[in-house]
Amino acid sequence: MSENSENLPKTITRRRFILGVIAGGAAVGAASYRFLAPHGRTISAAGERLITINVNGKPRRVDVMKQETLAWTLRYKLGLTGTKLGCDRAECGACTVMIDDVPHYSCSVLTHTVRGRNVTTIEGLASADGKLHPVQQAVIDEQGFQCAFCMSGFIMSTVGFLKTNPNPTRKELAHGISGNLCRCQDYNKILDAMMRGAEYMRDGVPAGRTLTATGANPAAGDDASMVLARRA
Ligand code: FES
Ligand code: FES
Repeated sequence: MSENSENLPKTITRRRFILGVIAGGAAVGAASYRFLAPHGRTISAAGERLITINVNGKPRRVDVMKQETLAWTLRYKLGLTGTKLGCDRAECGACTVMIDDVPHYSCSVLTHTVRGRNVTTIEGLASADGKLHPVQQAVIDEQGFQCAFCMSGFIMSTVGFLKTNPNPTRKELAHGISGNLCRCQDYNKILDAMMRGAEYMRDGVPAGRTLTATGANPAAGDDASMVLARRA
């Protein structure tokens, strides 16, 4: 532990301290963000504007720069870190969210353009009572990922695709989510999970398998800590 953190007042926990450092870093990063314009000119990030965007069914007031991407706003200003940043240039799909029920790369959407539209992130998929979305449940049942960095993007793309084709073949689904990449190359398992998700959406999640967003299975009398301990 560093000398500075040892001297913190007892009321500040290590977790709070680390979160504070992250928040401070993000604020400084946003304030000094510069964007490369054509011919190598840079554009200042100054001039934030307060706007309201609708995220996961709730209006959120947030100061945004005119060049700010939705991924940046979601992660570093609204704390919705389930949306991942991989390439930050529309290649990997890790940042996928739904805008008006259509999957988009949030790293390539300017935040001010989504005013008046409905943004759904991975945090907004569970139902109001905390029950996981069927595609999320299918990922747990099939254990379809390795490091899972790409997982939220795949889930959002799949949920969006299934809105247009609820009963896809494996090949159709593979094509539908081909804009998402997995660095661990776990595509077969991912497709198993997503096909299971399609099945759960059509036929319902089997009784007794429904987890809440905290990982507990109320049907089995679990609490979250028991579930996590079992997975460890
Ligand atoms: S981070 Fe957006 S597509 Fe890779
Ligand atoms: S499971 Fe690791 S990047 Fe996809």
